Amino acid sequence: MKHETVLLEEAIHYLNIKPNGIYVDGTIGGGGHSKLILKHLKDGFLFGFDQDEFAIQYAKEVLKDYTNYKIIKSNFKYLKEKLAEENIFGIDGILLDLGLSSFQIDDEKRGFTYLKDTTLDMRMNQDQELTAQMILNTYSLEELARIFFVYGEEKNSYKIAHRIIDQRPLSTTMDLVKITDQVNYKEKGHSAKRVFQALRIAVNDELKVLEEVLRDAVDLLNHDGRLVVITFHSLEDRIVKHFFKEESETFTPKNMPILREDKSKMEIITRKPVYPSLDEYERNPRSKSAKLRAARKK
Ligand SMILES: C[S@@+](CC[C@H](N)C(=O)[O-])C[C@H]1O[C@@H](n2cnc3c(N)ncnc32)[C@H](O)[C@@H]1O
Repeated sequence: MKHETVLLEEAIHYLNIKPNGIYVDGTIGGGGHSKLILKHLKDGFLFGFDQDEFAIQYAKEVLKDYTNYKIIKSNFKYLKEKLAEENIFGIDGILLDLGLSSFQIDDEKRGFTYLKDTTLDMRMNQDQELTAQMILNTYSLEELARIFFVYGEEKNSYKIAHRIIDQRPLSTTMDLVKITDQVNYKEKGHSAKRVFQALRIAVNDELKVLEEVLRDAVDLLNHDGRLVVITFHSLEDRIVKHFFKEESETFTPKNMPILREDKSKMEIITRKPVYPSLDEYERNPRSKSAKLRAARKK
C-alpha cells in the first residue's frame, strides 16, 4: 500500500522554496511532497499536518532521514492556532493536496470505496464521532437530499434519500449501493459514485474546512509566500478558483475619478489550472482528476 504523489515536481516548482523558509504541508499523507520540500530546505523548517493517524505514522517513516520538520496531528482548519502554539506567525509557503491518500481509499475498513462490502465509515480522522452510517440513519429526508445534491451533484438525490429512509437502518456500503443501483440504473459509470463523494464531503466537512484554511493561509503568508492547492473534484476547485479571484481583484469604485488603489493580497500565478502530464496520467490513473492552482502573497 503506497500513495503515489500527484503533481510532485509541479507543486514544488510553484512553492518556489526558499532554503531558509518556513513551509507547511497541510496534507502530509504519504509524505511524498514533504520529502521533496525537505530536500530543498537548508536551514528552513517544515510543519506537516494530517488528521489521519495512519498517514502520520507512514509519513514519519518516509521522512526518517530529516530532522527539520514537525508533524502536527490536526485538521488543517486549526492551522493558525496550531502554528501559533509553535510561535509561528508567518510562513513562506503552504501546500494543500486535498482529498484522500491511496492507503485510505484502499483500506476497506475505512469505508471510502463502493466496490467492497464494508462499514459505512468514511472518517479521515478516526477520533471523530460522525460517520457516514450516522448520517444515513439519522438525518432527515431534506438533509440527505441536500447533501447528495449539493456535494454530489446527484440529480436523483430525493429518490435516493427516500429509499434510504424506507430501508433504514443501513449497515454496510452494499446496503447503500443496492439503493443507488435501483435508482441510477441507467448510469454509465458506477451508480454510487456521486453519493459516496457527497457523503465523504459531509462526514469530513471538506468544503467548509477548505474555505477556512485558505483564509488562514493568506493571513499567515509572508511577502512573496506561496499558496499551492491540488484539488480532485470540481466543487473543491471552484472554491479555490473563486477564492484566488477574490483575493487578487483590485476594486475600483464606479464613476469615481480616483486613482486605483490596489488592496488585493494575492497574485494568481497559474492563470489556468495545471494538470498532470500524459506520462503521469498513464503511470497513476488516480491523478486523472487533479488540478493545481497557485498564488503568491503580495
Ligand atoms: C492526497 S493525500 C496527501 C498526499 C501527500 N501529498 C503525499 O505526497 O503523499 C491527502 C491527505 O490529507 C489528509 N487530509 C485531508 N483533509 C484534511 C484536513 N482537513 N486536515 C488535515 N488533514 C487532511 C488526508 O488524511 C490525507 O492523508
